[in-house]
Amino acid sequence: MGLYLALGVSKLADSGNALVSWKASMNQPIHLFTRQAIPMVWDFAEPNVFSGAMGDLVVTLNNISRILDRNMNKLHGFADQLDARKQGLSHNKLISTDPPYYDNVGYADLSDFFYVWLRRSLNSVFPHLFATLAVPKTDELVATPGRHGGKDKAESFFLDGMTKAIHRLGEKVHPAFPITIYYAFKQAEGRGADSIYSTGWETFLEGVVSAGLAITGTWPMRTELANRMRSLGSNALASSVVLVCRPRSAGAPTATRREFLNALKVELPDALAYLQHGNIAPVDLAQASIGPGMAIYTRFAKVLDADGKAVPVQEALELINQTLDEVLSEQESDFDADSRWALAWFDQSGFGEGEYGVAETLSKAKNTSVKGLEDAGILYQRAGNVRLLRPRELPEDWDPSTDPRLTVWEVVHHLIRVLEAAGEGSAAELVAKLGSKAEAARELAYRLYTVCERKKRAQEALSYNGLVQSWPEIQRLAREVATAQPSQAQLFEQE
Ligand SMILES: C[S@@+](CC[C@H](N)C(=O)[O-])C[C@H]1O[C@@H](n2cnc3c(N)ncnc32)[C@H](O)[C@@H]1O
Repeated sequence: MGLYLALGVSKLADSGNALVSWKASMNQPIHLFTRQAIPMVWDFAEPNVFSGAMGDLVVTLNNISRILDRNMNKLHGFADQLDARKQGLSHNKLISTDPPYYDNVGYADLSDFFYVWLRRSLNSVFPHLFATLAVPKTDELVATPGRHGGKDKAESFFLDGMTKAIHRLGEKVHPAFPITIYYAFKQAEGRGADSIYSTGWETFLEGVVSAGLAITGTWPMRTELANRMRSLGSNALASSVVLVCRPRSAGAPTATRREFLNALKVELPDALAYLQHGNIAPVDLAQASIGPGMAIYTRFAKVLDADGKAVPVQEALELINQTLDEVLSEQESDFDADSRWALAWFDQSGFGEGEYGVAETLSKAKNTSVKGLEDAGILYQRAGNVRLLRPRELPEDWDPSTDPRLTVWEVVHHLIRVLEAAGEGSAAELVAKLGSKAEAARELAYRLYTVCERKKRAQEALSYNGLVQSWPEIQRLAREVATAQPSQAQLFEQE
């Protein structure tokens, strides 16, 4: 009982401090840790601890007890604090772990906020857990330059520690089971301007490889709450990627760089189709394809370049990304000529204006014409310039069943127009009318998202990502619309 009261008091600290803000849309105060940081606020709300609402001790305790009521009778668990590099706890166990993400979250520093309260109440109950005045920090596996004497030293501390920790897991895991590792981290700052893979990912994967593990699977999982504070543009993924690892076999062969690249070209298209079929958010596609790509890389004991030097993880990631781009471009051959023109134009100019002459030349290469593109309703031309029409400029009374020149491009942009103006229900009505023609739209939305990501067009990227994320719901609603509408035969029967 003392333990739960202490948890209640510690949790109360989250809503009883001078950094609690007022959430006008909910007409109530909002607790401090809505993200893993302590942000500045200009003014603060002061919840009453006896108000019967957010910030009340009894409400807090009830929230804790709800979880206990639901789970604790049936489940037994235990917690201990051990260093992952040295622990023996996971001996012959099934391991599923969520490791720290490079320098993303300073858990130990943030934990001090609660630790001081917990220590006061529980020091005598768990003396070994509360032996230190503050949360132990030196063994924490995060790359914190301030703690380790600069950026480079912090990076090697993280790499060395993560390698040891993963090595330990490989030694200890029950041999019948794989180790599953959650990785929900996308770091904005990359090595080069175009690099989407971060130091964090590279360092982590370097650790997995040098610990002698091979990646045998990748499961994208929707693990994050839709209402959380972090979103596109932050360092967070919409889906987590679960890496499935097993110890690499002792007889694993060596491959040349060319053999590795060939294997990527053969295997990545299917892996990508699988990810897209699972409706992975476009924002996560490049990160999620690391899994299948690294599965190929780690299948080999070593990948050697022409000079006989080992191809490092960083280069392997670049090759995976390059192949991903090629695979996505190959999907373009499924689109109609007008859409392929629009895609190439969008790549160069987005929705901006360009010269008529350039558009005309491009149209020859794509087997269409500027006049045809205008007729198709995707292009606007004026005074020697042309541009693609934005979704909001498209006609509201568009009916795909009477469109004489229907293109996937139009389908995508009309769906975005309707989705953003009227929601998933209205988009579903359009999809029901489109029937099987709608499916190609999702593929094009993926492709357009990757173009936007490369060209840093955040606004458009949001629309394409949004369309794919809503896709399962739109399809579900479209099926309802389709079954609700009487078929032609039924209509004749009624007459
Ligand atoms: C991504 S978080 C896990 C978050 C957890 N899944 C949750 O939902 O709350 C990574 C965790 O690794 C822990 N950690 C960092 N260094 C460690 C070490 N050397 N040994 C064991 N755990 C460590 C951190 O304290 C943090 O709790």
